Amino acid sequence: MKHLIAPSLLAADFSKMESQIEIINRSEADWLHLDIMDGVFVPNISFGLPVIKSLRPHIDKPFDVHLMIVDPDRYIRDFKLAGADLLNVHYEACTHLYRTIDAIKKEGMQVGVTLNPHTPVFLLEEIITEVDLVLLMSVNPGFGGQKFIENTFKKLTDLKRLIEKKGSRALIEVDGGVTVANAQRLINAGADVLVAGSAVFNAPDPIQAVKELKHFLPEPPLSDLR
Ligand code: DX5
Ligand code: ZN
Repeated sequence: MKHLIAPSLLAADFSKMESQIEIINRSEADWLHLDIMDGVFVPNISFGLPVIKSLRPHIDKPFDVHLMIVDPDRYIRDFKLAGADLLNVHYEACTHLYRTIDAIKKEGMQVGVTLNPHTPVFLLEEIITEVDLVLLMSVNPGFGGQKFIENTFKKLTDLKRLIEKKGSRALIEVDGGVTVANAQRLINAGADVLVAGSAVFNAPDPIQAVKELKHFLPEPPLSDLR
């Protein structure tokens, strides 16, 4: 499977939503990544349900919603109604993860489980066959524009091995500090979906930036790797 690109709306210019929507629609972006932060699970507040709902009729691409909130179970139905196609919950925010996964599936959404950078992959052993996707955070969640954590490569190897061992069909998504300079290495290490916020929306030409992430053009200079 050709890897997928999911630009993160968090880095978009919220004062120019029409042009940002056009970028998403016209680019080779496969999904739109939407970061929901509650100021409790992470030290930042982003946007919520009304934003997803108002974008939904204007973007004909799957909505990949990343919940960085405590007690996500309370809002599963609301996110479905707002237009989420895939709902990512943090492993660290779910006391009864099996139940949460089940509730997301019952609403007819794809289900993703997200791991913070410090959370080891082996903790997913008992649920890896139940999920559609695992999202590996490659920065501490809460903010865009942070530096990529190199240990993610080790976690990618661990996760790929676990998925194969258990015969899971889960996709692997990487989120945080993804740029054209590390995209190819991430795909080679097993990532299926790359989230990119600042690398897309802060680029001089965001549509071209998505193209480069999708096709790895141009080759990054070695000194640029991080
Ligand atoms: C961070 C968010 C990311 C963020 C990525 O908590 O989950 O999705 O938007 O931004 P960049 O690509 O700028 O690191
Ligand atoms: Zn995210």
